[in-house]
Amino acid sequence: MNLSIELIHENALKELDTVADAEGIKELYVRFLGRKGLITQFLRNISSLPEAQRPQAGKKANQTKKALDKAFKAALKKIEAGSADSGNRIDVSLPGRTAPRGSLHPITRITQRVCDIFLHLGFDIAEGPETETDYYNFEALNVPKFHPARDMQDTFYVSDNIVLRTQTSPMQIRVMEKQPPPVAIIAPGKVYRCDSDLTHTPMFHQVEGLLVDQNVSFGDLKGTLTAFVHQMFDDKISLRFRPSFFPFTEPSAEVDILCVMCRGKGCRVCSHSGWLEILGAGMVHPNVFGSVGYDTSRYTGFAFGMGIERIAMLKYGIDDIRKFFDNDLRFLRQF
Ligand code: PHE
Repeated sequence: MNLSIELIHENALKELDTVADAEGIKELYVRFLGRKGLITQFLRNISSLPEAQRPQAGKKANQTKKALDKAFKAALKKIEAGSADSGNRIDVSLPGRTAPRGSLHPITRITQRVCDIFLHLGFDIAEGPETETDYYNFEALNVPKFHPARDMQDTFYVSDNIVLRTQTSPMQIRVMEKQPPPVAIIAPGKVYRCDSDLTHTPMFHQVEGLLVDQNVSFGDLKGTLTAFVHQMFDDKISLRFRPSFFPFTEPSAEVDILCVMCRGKGCRVCSHSGWLEILGAGMVHPNVFGSVGYDTSRYTGFAFGMGIERIAMLKYGIDDIRKFFDNDLRFLRQF
């Protein structure tokens, strides 16, 4: 073996540079520093050198041995540290990355809750179009053309005869046209009115209710709505029925609940009246039964319509209806 010790040293470092894993380094150990390694062989051969060169050669060989040992160990350490935290390897004990989970929109939640309560009371769910003909949205509901009651709702006209429905009440007609009494349905959905401020948006949601059978009375309406309000808010909330007007019901009422914020003492939310209006209702007008051919001498019925946003605002203590539609995730994540 006549390689110079300097050359062995140099080669060892060059090879170390190309090694990327612990296995490779262990192999270098064997090849250079092992029992049959190049350095060991070099040391053994010293005895065959001329006597004058032996001390110098021995010293150099031992220095190289130490230097390589140090270099190999340092490289090994670096590789081991790297595999632990650089992500080169998969650490199966780490918790996985979870995909962010969405949640139901507050309006969806309240709609589902309202539907749930009425389903338990024996009502079915009906759905219908958001673009309506003038006939379903108005005429069949006892609102003739040029009737002043059309001004109650600021209508979006698609064409002379087609509107974006201003209420879910056209569903009363659509359902009754399809089936004879008895009828017990609720119809949730979007409605549109040209209006926008703290408490109005051009699109909002309503749930319509309709029950028709023999001997249905205003008492049934009161009982049904009381059961609903008690389940929706709490069983101690009082209701009050205020006489009102809707073209498609007679008599008509607006229903207030005791203010859920101040319990009737008077606060900003209830405009210091102690009461909150939550829906419109009444006994189905005979002219509406006339539109669908129901026998008014045999059947009576009640109908009601409520705004979902209004109920959601009261349930969650939200003071600006527009928040529901801004799609600010900081707001929506709270539900
Ligand atoms: N459609 C009415 C509104 O939008 C509410 C209502 C429905 C009133 C059914 C009476 C009966 O204001």
